[in-house]
Amino acid sequence: MTTRINTVDAFPAAPEALGLPGEAELARLAARFFNEPPSSVPLEARTPEAAPRTEQDGQETAAQPIFDVPLPDILELANWTPPDARTGSPFYFLDDAPPLYPAGISVPVTRPAPGLAPFSSGQAIPGQPFDVHAVRNDFPILAETVNGRSLVWLDNAATTQKPQAVIDRLAYFYAHENSNIHRAAHELAARATDAFEAARETVRRFVHARSVNEIIFVRGTTEGINLVAQSWGRQHLLPGDEILITWLEHHANIVPWQQLAAQTGAALKVAPVNDRGEISLDEYTRLLGPKTRFVAFTQVSNALGTVTPAAEMTRLAQACGAKVLIDGAQSVLHMRTDVQALGCDWFVFSGHKVFGPTGIGALYGKEELLNATDPWQGGGNMIQDVTFERTLYQDAPARFEAGTGNIAGAVGLGAALEYVERIGIDNIARHEHDLLRYGTRLLSEIPGLKIIGQAAEKAGVLSFVLEGRGTLEIGSALNKAGIAVRAGHHCAQPILRRFGLEATVRPSLALYNTHDDLDALAAALLKLVRTGKPGG
Ligand code: ALA
Repeated sequence: MTTRINTVDAFPAAPEALGLPGEAELARLAARFFNEPPSSVPLEARTPEAAPRTEQDGQETAAQPIFDVPLPDILELANWTPPDARTGSPFYFLDDAPPLYPAGISVPVTRPAPGLAPFSSGQAIPGQPFDVHAVRNDFPILAETVNGRSLVWLDNAATTQKPQAVIDRLAYFYAHENSNIHRAAHELAARATDAFEAARETVRRFVHARSVNEIIFVRGTTEGINLVAQSWGRQHLLPGDEILITWLEHHANIVPWQQLAAQTGAALKVAPVNDRGEISLDEYTRLLGPKTRFVAFTQVSNALGTVTPAAEMTRLAQACGAKVLIDGAQSVLHMRTDVQALGCDWFVFSGHKVFGPTGIGALYGKEELLNATDPWQGGGNMIQDVTFERTLYQDAPARFEAGTGNIAGAVGLGAALEYVERIGIDNIARHEHDLLRYGTRLLSEIPGLKIIGQAAEKAGVLSFVLEGRGTLEIGSALNKAGIAVRAGHHCAQPILRRFGLEATVRPSLALYNTHDDLDALAAALLKLVRTGKPGG
């Protein structure tokens, strides 16, 4: 018996209850859409939909058709004119964009309100529809042109763009609050410390931790994983112990465990995936045993987009007495994070993948566990008392935050997470789910294109290869059309090699992407297929 994680499970209500079209209405609208060129799709036809839930174990289930309505002749898309040329304005998406927030509510996107944004309660605005065009207005970089085209940013798995609220918050910090934290009795130290600790509370709320003491600021996911490996791992693992990871992992969730295994004499085991890129829970369970002391896995694969059954995997591992770390780098921007529901011992993510600055991320750890673990780095801020003979450490989180960290980055991360809260993560998940289904169907129609990773539960990623074309050639052809994707091994060589590949092209989605972005991608690929020249 397995429990599947379905991104749709996070949706609180049937689409009709949210005032959105149901399946029948959606099919009617979609059929109308598919009989017309993409540029004339009425906005309401693109309203997010909810997919039917699957009760079946995906490992045994044949891949399901994504859409049950006919597509147009896909080759017609090659003649489609991108929006900027159509309207004559590179800022077409700013024109007439309706307001995101209800009338009468002002949102300080240009005037930062330190720690006191009006919508910092962690609640999405009730009943507020998701308006992607209004969201796009919040991200100034989306107005850039690249090679004469409006930028189409489909490299979100590598990094996300930043809303004005985050940019403003960073500027405000340096203009009005900058100081070191926790260390002085002057006004700016108080302002900076307050801003930094407010950001910690925002992270706590965002991941649903019990206490701010469970939130450690780190440089990013990579540093968080290395912290756990070199503190808890070094202190607890013995020769003969086993560390279990999966084939889906990013190098950041492989290499630190290889290093730890070499340092401690523990063995590294790897849980396989099936041909659709899903974790085989049977195989995973077979690899768990009394020697398994530690399990680490990703919640969403950066290379394939597979959503792993993270809560179930955690439960199975902990039933064997193992500790569990979840890599949330690719999940936090796509779905609700709840570390208590997941039950994991550690959860780590990077700020820059969730609309925050680079060089900042957070590690969640259960408080008792953190306080029972010796720190991995020594220095200022993490001590209670130092003599030449010994040092007494602070409790978490200071215990693991030696030295001066990225204070402004943490404050910016807090602003990014508050931004996501204002939009509503369930709204974002629904929008992206709709885009992923649409993009999957569209790309599948391109001659010679093969999507890599066909998991029943996916988020955010559309990896593919194209017959007769190298991935770099495709990436650079797309760049000529103003479209940014990652082409390469995505720092996840083992999972690509599982599919006999060294590289894929990887468009990846975030809340500000649109159907137009995917149409532009398909049009450029079709032009490349038909003429051998960059398209768009
Ligand atoms: N981990 C990032 C990616 O998948 C860099 O592209």
